Amino acid sequence: MSPMNRRNFAKTSLLAAAAAALPGGRAFADRPAMPATIPGFIPTSESEKAQFPDDFLWGMATSSYQVEGAWNEDGKGESIWDRFVHAPGHVKGSDTADVACDFYHRYRDDIGILKKLNLKSFRFSISWPRIQPTGTGAPNMKGVDHYSQFVDALLEAGIRPFCTVYHWDLPQGLEDRGGWPNRDLAGYFADYAGILAKHLGDRITVWAPFNMPWSFTFFGYGVGIQPPGRRSFPDWLKAMHTVALAQGEAHRSIKANSAKATVGSAYEMAPGYPKTDSEADRAAAERYHAMSNVYFLAATMTGEYPKKAFLTDEPFQIMGYKSGDEKMMKAPLDWVGFHYYSRRIVEDASKTSPVGGGGSFDSEGENDPPGGRDPYTGIRVTMASEGPLTHAGLEMWPRGIYDIVMRISREFNNPVIELTESGCMFLDGPEPAQGGRVPDGRRIEFFRQELSELARAMRDGAKVRSFHAWSLLDNFEWGDGYSFRYGLTYVDFRTQQRTIKDSGLWYGRVAASGKLPTG
Ligand code: FCB
Repeated sequence: MSPMNRRNFAKTSLLAAAAAALPGGRAFADRPAMPATIPGFIPTSESEKAQFPDDFLWGMATSSYQVEGAWNEDGKGESIWDRFVHAPGHVKGSDTADVACDFYHRYRDDIGILKKLNLKSFRFSISWPRIQPTGTGAPNMKGVDHYSQFVDALLEAGIRPFCTVYHWDLPQGLEDRGGWPNRDLAGYFADYAGILAKHLGDRITVWAPFNMPWSFTFFGYGVGIQPPGRRSFPDWLKAMHTVALAQGEAHRSIKANSAKATVGSAYEMAPGYPKTDSEADRAAAERYHAMSNVYFLAATMTGEYPKKAFLTDEPFQIMGYKSGDEKMMKAPLDWVGFHYYSRRIVEDASKTSPVGGGGSFDSEGENDPPGGRDPYTGIRVTMASEGPLTHAGLEMWPRGIYDIVMRISREFNNPVIELTESGCMFLDGPEPAQGGRVPDGRRIEFFRQELSELARAMRDGAKVRSFHAWSLLDNFEWGDGYSFRYGLTYVDFRTQQRTIKDSGLWYGRVAASGKLPTG
């Protein structure tokens, strides 16, 4: 275990203990029945008001690398994540995703779970190295056929396939050519997306080019805690720019290959609240929003990056912006997709050293990552802890989903919105004394609270059409390996046995009724 992972592990354990010891935490842990007493939580009367439309698309999300396994089967090439996990010290417990949930072989049974829970949309990603083992050239038809059969199985179950084109598993062959900081990847990515649309676009109509573009560029190239493990802020800026170009190029390539295609996104979003009411902190929160929430959204909608993102124009020179790039970046989305997990507190750090180095990190976001925040935005970002904490140390703050959905609706002309991910980490497992069921009441409460706030945003005019819970299965949670459990289905990784958790059963009732059961 690397020193960083050791630190994270200690932090996670401490936070788990702290969460259990919160005032009111016992009641919360045992029986989610006292929302009014929990900071940030809304009363039951609010969730009773929630009524989602009949055609609302209830769904679940996964990603290829986190569930598939079969890391070297059927002609698949090596990805940067394969390379990263096979080297020592990168993942807690030295876990790898060589087998993961074995979803590559078991997807039919897992689609059975989705069906049983009345779900109508499934967000998955395609592994680029299964389609193009080294990232360029003719497709590997075994890989294409696999996803073709998988999509057929979803459609047979009456489930909409929602395809994320890239959820972080870059072919190692492309990293060997310089990775995302190399502009050529925009073209290679568009070729890959075009192959998918050509072979699957008669059945898939909903496409998101990238999952969380800020995160994988920052963590992979800026601070090096994800593959390829580089620590260079200039490389991060270049990678961001290639990805913004790639987003537009892929959009056009998907549409050129499939007349039915609609293209959106799967961005990370977390509302940032200024730490104090000072002008400096409020301006910092705006820079945070421009950089972490809407950087890629603005780029694709308008062809321009948000002006407020950085303190100076220097980053635009470093990233290698060329005139004409605005035309490549611009490709207005048909709908806007984003995740919500938690909020952030933002303060101005333009006058202090940007290097924080607190070292804490969770895959969902950033909390003063090792090496500090980038020097260009001049902000310091932290997680709040007023509300209860999950076992990943993220604060549960239901109001945040209302705020971010309303803000995006306001700023981007009330677009159709898809919630592409939301969920929480709690370690609950099967209780032998209760027949092996998994009583994860805290996760139920997380979703009940948050969905109440989502319903309120919809009552206030937001055009939200779907919600995807993260995740169908406990899975390989990046640097935290199997020690983090985000699933609504429990997976015993020794036997691959699945047990739908109480939260999964509850979510199935939500999907069937459009209401939020309290009992
Ligand atoms: C999101 C990622 C997803 C998973 C969850 C917990 O940020 O998209 O792969 O790690 O967090």
